[in-house]
Amino acid sequence: MVASSSIPTIPSHTKAWIYSEYGKSGEVLKFDPNVPLPQLNDHQVLIKVVAAALNPVDYKRMAGNLKPTDTPLPHVPGYDVAGVVVKVGSEVKKFKVGDQVYGDVSEKAVDHPNVLGSLAEFTIAEEKVLAHKPTNLTFPEAASLPLAIITAYEGLERAQFSATKSLLVLGGAGGVGTHVIQLAKHVFGGTKIAATCSTGKLELLRNLGAHLPIDYTKEKIENYPEKFDVVYDAIGETESALKAVKEGGKVVTIVNPGTAATFFVLTSDGSVLEKLRGYIEDGKVKPILDPNAKMGEELCGFVVFLDNQIIPPINVTSIYLVT
Ligand SMILES: NC(=O)c1ccc[n+]([C@@H]2O[C@H](COP(=O)([O-])OP(=O)(O)OC[C@H]3O[C@@H](n4cnc5c(N)ncnc54)[C@H](OP(=O)(O)O)[C@@H]3O)[C@@H](O)[C@H]2O)c1
Repeated sequence: MVASSSIPTIPSHTKAWIYSEYGKSGEVLKFDPNVPLPQLNDHQVLIKVVAAALNPVDYKRMAGNLKPTDTPLPHVPGYDVAGVVVKVGSEVKKFKVGDQVYGDVSEKAVDHPNVLGSLAEFTIAEEKVLAHKPTNLTFPEAASLPLAIITAYEGLERAQFSATKSLLVLGGAGGVGTHVIQLAKHVFGGTKIAATCSTGKLELLRNLGAHLPIDYTKEKIENYPEKFDVVYDAIGETESALKAVKEGGKVVTIVNPGTAATFFVLTSDGSVLEKLRGYIEDGKVKPILDPNAKMGEELCGFVVFLDNQIIPPINVTSIYLVT
């Protein structure tokens, strides 16, 4: 934990992982000890990063998949952050120096996301995308949540999910899916929640609140006899989702644009995190991390816990696989 007494002097540069051309992380991602930090605007917060999480959008963006709407290179990847406030802009109301915060630093994930992400010693975020870190969470646990849990919440709202409706989650064991299940049960009051996953994750999904975990390696969801009021597609199997929904029901997808389902891209919003704070601090909604995971080739699904004493290259003390 970073105590407020250890808040560093305001830096003009930051150590960061950065890429200047699109490609695979192993080829294009480089450590730079001296990335200039832009001036804070009135509504922004400078954060000393303690933990950063990487999502699929990080590697998709690095691969160039977002080119048409991306910000010009170079980029420091990382949407999710947990850390300590070291400076606030003149109009910032919610936070003060020393506060422990978390959030998804890019308000729009694919439409001109931030140049400076969270895989750095310091990062900058708009006040409105941040929230106070739940007191019961470690920094890595907090960093694992924002992008995935906001996406989960926004999708359930867009689908007008409520306690009386049944829900099917396609991709229930993923970063987004695990939170769709938990929010559907604890925040929206759902009691009929089905979700797909592989054989080894059935128990995890049951523990998260799915009354009906479905093994996608054994059953085709389009052949499943039961139909659902709402289907949340978190893997891009929208055709199957459309076959599994009741007439008049709703299908939301976070992967497949251009289908009959409602496609959306999350808007990062600190007020959603504040709204969920009670559920997280009560232990009802939990981050799902695997402390034994090893960082793989693909740069996604990981929380990177940055050492306070950052020495070049940024000293990664722990990594955890999300879900
Ligand atoms: N539009 C948006 O705003 C938005 C926001 C966030 C994410 N996304 C996108 O949504 C997708 C999911 O993101 P994420 O962070 O949840 O990814 P993730 O954590 O990497 O998801 C991995 C999970 O997908 C599951 N999976 C793979 N194939 C499956 C299948 N056929 N049926 C059921 N589950 C399957 C796996 O479950 P098993 O381990 O059980 O195999 C695994 O746990 C990504 O494509 C991401 O880019 C979009």
